[in-house]
Amino acid sequence: MKKLIGPFTQILPLTNLPLKGALKDEQLHVIPNGGVLVKDGLILAVGDFEELKKANPTAEIEEIRGSRVLLPGFIDCHTHICFGGNRAKDYAMRIAGKTYLEIAQSGGGIWDTVTQTRAADEMMLAELLVQRANRHLSEGVTTIEVKSGYGLSLAEELKQLRAIKAAAAKTKAKMVSTCLAAHMVPKDFNGSQREYLEYVLHELLPVVREENLAARVDIFIEQSAFDAENALFYLNHAKQMGFEITVHVDQFTTGGSKVAVEVGALSADHLEASGEAEIKLLAESNSVAVTLPGASLGLGMQYAPARKLLDAGACLAIASDWNPGSAPMGDLLMQAAVMSASEKLTAAEVFAGLTYRAAAALKITNRGILAPGMLADMQAYPCADYREILYYQGKMKPQKVWTADFNDFGISLI
Ligand code: NIG
Ligand code: FE
Repeated sequence: MKKLIGPFTQILPLTNLPLKGALKDEQLHVIPNGGVLVKDGLILAVGDFEELKKANPTAEIEEIRGSRVLLPGFIDCHTHICFGGNRAKDYAMRIAGKTYLEIAQSGGGIWDTVTQTRAADEMMLAELLVQRANRHLSEGVTTIEVKSGYGLSLAEELKQLRAIKAAAAKTKAKMVSTCLAAHMVPKDFNGSQREYLEYVLHELLPVVREENLAARVDIFIEQSAFDAENALFYLNHAKQMGFEITVHVDQFTTGGSKVAVEVGALSADHLEASGEAEIKLLAESNSVAVTLPGASLGLGMQYAPARKLLDAGACLAIASDWNPGSAPMGDLLMQAAVMSASEKLTAAEVFAGLTYRAAAALKITNRGILAPGMLADMQAYPCADYREILYYQGKMKPQKVWTADFNDFGISLI
């Protein structure tokens, strides 16, 4: 059964825009009094509501009343929302001025969340993840990447990845899982960086592949985690095993983005410390540069050089990095809106970074724009002009979110 949804005051389909580089708002295609024709979870047509109605007299109508602006659902291409406990103690210390080292020495940091995540069973982890995913969904985020990385042993990483798989079946948000067993060398592992990475390659990744728990592998390249040489070794092997690559790079120190580009990573994420050389490298590569304003806000650090990356020609996506340590807020739109004022990003660049450019970071081609053949993942904001969305700095939330259900479509209200 065809369904025609509308009329929307404005539809921003985000079509016909380049994958890379700066965007002006004038480049945005804005359809006034628009409608979307859908069937079986897919978009059949996007255009003038009255014309679509005339051309499809038998379509069921979902009438939209009041001023509404329609966007594609957001895609959060970098999160760590499968975890137990919280790190409020870390945060209190950080805002009181304690250093990273002081916090780690007092028992905080990633290892604290590893301990709290290990203490939760798979069902509990899945339940917590579903709650967070549903919150994201209500805020317009219809696709969510979720990393492991708080297990850091064969059994515990598998527990996390299985929890992600179980949670994905219990929410209408679509999930993409990533194995981040290389988040840090676990404190209870008796061996070097290289030995831990070999353990992950030989013991964990074959099971991940066999159970189809993740098709992507991530590593944290940083002084406190893994160095460039070991990361290169690990990523090349993971790639040979058939995994797609994404990497945490240049958060505090540079060096990681070079590795990301060298291995042909789908995305290089963080980039707060990236300078001119790294910007040029990323702009000339096919890796998506993923900026994580939530981590900058949580740590009280500078943003990644988003403006410079776009001007140099990079493909820039914006993700939340939602995690219990550096980015506990998890409000993707608010973070993107707040960053845009400092980094001087246009609305077109922000919306592109939250939709089709984020889809590219996940190598997903069936969503991120509103066009025939795409999934009907959409969100409507209660305003008459798309510029109001960033103007309210993320406080205005979508009034309605539609998610295409692959198996049993009915476009559904969240
Ligand atoms: O992306 N940078 C490394 N990992 C996370 C933080 C994880 C944590 O602190 O628990 C990040 O910011
Ligand atoms: Fe992260």
